[in-house]
Amino acid sequence: MDIYRTTIRPILFSGLKVDPEWAHQQSLALLSWIGQYQNQFPVSRIEHQLKSVFSINSTRLSQTLWGLSFPNPVGLAAGFDKDGVAAGIWHSFGFGFAELGTVTLHPQPGNPRPRLFRLLQDQAVLNRMGFNNQGAAALATRLSQHTQAVSLPIGINLGKSKITPLEAAAKDYLASFRQLKAWGDYFVVNVSSPNTPGLRSLQNATQLSQILEALQTENQGDKPLLVKIAPDLEWEAIADILELAQTYQLAGIIATNTTIRRDGLSTTVISRTGNLVTEEAGGISGAPLRQRSTEVIRWIYQQTQGQLPIIGVGGIFTPEDAWEKITAGACLIQTYTGWVYEGPGMVRRILEGLLQRLDVAGFNSLSEAVGSQVDRV
Ligand SMILES: Cc1cc2nc3c(=O)[nH]c(=O)nc-3n(C[C@H](O)[C@H](O)[C@H](O)COP(=O)(O)O)c2cc1C
Repeated sequence: MDIYRTTIRPILFSGLKVDPEWAHQQSLALLSWIGQYQNQFPVSRIEHQLKSVFSINSTRLSQTLWGLSFPNPVGLAAGFDKDGVAAGIWHSFGFGFAELGTVTLHPQPGNPRPRLFRLLQDQAVLNRMGFNNQGAAALATRLSQHTQAVSLPIGINLGKSKITPLEAAAKDYLASFRQLKAWGDYFVVNVSSPNTPGLRSLQNATQLSQILEALQTENQGDKPLLVKIAPDLEWEAIADILELAQTYQLAGIIATNTTIRRDGLSTTVISRTGNLVTEEAGGISGAPLRQRSTEVIRWIYQQTQGQLPIIGVGGIFTPEDAWEKITAGACLIQTYTGWVYEGPGMVRRILEGLLQRLDVAGFNSLSEAVGSQVDRV
């Protein structure tokens, strides 16, 4: 029996009318505490238990990408652990990697609350957090103290500080990257959040190229650098980004961030505010995003002939969803909303489901499944 889905979720999601952001902060504080004391008895026992319940090991699911070993393809998506407070614990929940951030150069409080809403009928979340985070220096300090405990590839997702004008974006990303370079295994340029004014305009080729130029000059090929894109871009705009990926030798693309679209939702009114969902600012994640993000992954895989690694994210809840993204071309996948809805048993269920699907398809390893359902153009 899954206690999370039968007992904890109903309480968190409705019974006590718990504020989703408060619930998130409490969960993260608990995970951070476990991570901090995971090598000391009795917390070490709890951590050991978590690992034995929630994780599985199979070399068939492992991959080496950019010189990094990923024990499995399921990662924690950016936004969940923005400040890396629980960076050392994600392996205990079965994850194969974790992406911290979005972190900005300057610490910032984010948008006014409420800014996080669950759309239960849609298996979705609406958020307009606005990069609330403690800043790049704080993350660097925290990670420098926890190097022993972090055993998975760690990505760091960089965003632009709200106080930095768009014209100075490249300098802002560069300053964050300099502070954090030693502490991340890969880095992500986030130009796709809908919750920082003007940020998505940085996906435009001219502006993005300035950011990539600055970062790759500093980087000198040392760390894999990826760009995370919005699902709402036109194909032409994505094609421009793929061209930049080649010019600036990007390690890959993360597809996708949340969507600003509201079509197809069953929810009409956000009960906490009484406003129509169409009037509330923010990005939608979860089930409504699933199909579009897979479409973007498939398109990128086709256009690049499978030569550019893709991290697929958007609406993954089940092994079927994960398989769909992988066979559409994602070599790694990430989850945020699905993990909130499905609970900590989700990663293991997905990994077990992937192993079954590999058997059915007659593949030895996960890498054989990547892009296997895509017609090459
Ligand atoms: C509450 C919340 C906060 C998020 N914060 C960030 C963020 O800081 N940076 C980022 O790149 N993506 C952020 N995301 C987007 C997720 O990383 C992911 O791209 C998106 O939610 C789609 O995946 P999902 O359907 O599994 O949630 C956030 C998502 C949610 C729900």
